[in-house]
Amino acid sequence: MVPGGRVKPKVHVLVAIEWAILVTSGTGGVIMVKTRSASPPPYAPQGSSSGGGTGGGPGARSAGGLSGWNPKLYCLPKYYDIAFSRDVSKEINFYISCFKKYCSFEVRRILEPACGSGIFLLAFPRYGYHIVGYDISPEMVEYANEKIREAGLQGMAKAVVGDMADIRFGEKFDAAIIAINSLGYLQTDDKVLSHFKCMSECLVEGGLYIVELSCACQNVEGEKKPDETWVAEQGGVRIEATWKPYRYDTDKKLRCVNLKMRVQDNGKVFEFEEEHTLKLWYYDDLKRLVEEGGFTIKAIYTQEFQPVPLDSKITGELGALYFVLVNKTKT
Ligand SMILES: C[S@@+](CC[C@H](N)C(=O)[O-])C[C@H]1O[C@@H](n2cnc3c(N)ncnc32)[C@H](O)[C@@H]1O
Repeated sequence: MVPGGRVKPKVHVLVAIEWAILVTSGTGGVIMVKTRSASPPPYAPQGSSSGGGTGGGPGARSAGGLSGWNPKLYCLPKYYDIAFSRDVSKEINFYISCFKKYCSFEVRRILEPACGSGIFLLAFPRYGYHIVGYDISPEMVEYANEKIREAGLQGMAKAVVGDMADIRFGEKFDAAIIAINSLGYLQTDDKVLSHFKCMSECLVEGGLYIVELSCACQNVEGEKKPDETWVAEQGGVRIEATWKPYRYDTDKKLRCVNLKMRVQDNGKVFEFEEEHTLKLWYYDDLKRLVEEGGFTIKAIYTQEFQPVPLDSKITGELGALYFVLVNKTKT
């Protein structure tokens, strides 16, 4: 999924299933080294999606997120940020080219659902855009806002707590983006539809919503990719992570992933393991939900930013894709 052409000197490219991670090793950057892409793990994950773990490390929240779902990964923004750091400059350039190509007005204000630790909240202001992100994890939001403050970008970016399934805004945005299949955390059609309706309401008419996700493979065997393990290091912190899709429920249309993370933070060591359950996307479902939710699919692009004809067979074999949606709803 990550083309060799995107590799720079001293850059290690990793593929964490539908998460394409590209990292530079410049000053202050993160060095990620792929340690193995191994045979299926010897463990059979039993945990629920509420964040059970094998380790008693920091970050466990008893109260849970807004929907009671609180995986440790998203309660530990500092470690998420290191483990999933990447250079997003090419993605930003792609998003900007879409704004210019598909919007009849100048895009100034961007909304980012599931903003996480704020990688795009920090990046877009550097290109002159205002951006608001939201995330279900209060820890992620606090961490993102702290980074925004540190960067002196408070006038251009902010993060708030909210659930993609139903958050509404009293203001309008020109465009929105959602990265690395985060929308898959909405597992049911009802929630996805509700999300698209909310997004349609808070975008101006003709506004864009660019959604990155990967569909189910046509050949279900194609889904059985090897697990990916990588190491990320920054500022005395070393993280070894494994992201392993281990079960595909084609009836319920769910993809179950096991995440294992071992953290060494300046002498402190802990590890945890948890299940992430994501929607298994089928293009026909996506098209229907997009249309019912007030959008039209205007274009589709590959990870290499190459256009995919709208009448092609859209399956997981194409890798993660960017779906460019246009808001039909009159404002
Ligand atoms: C894979 S991370 C992506 C973070 C960030 N966009 C990035 O590119 O690094 C997925 C994010 O989705 C958030 N999330 C999961 N379910 C959510 C929901 N229902 N509403 C809002 N955010 C949600 C998680 O807390 C997490 O921060």
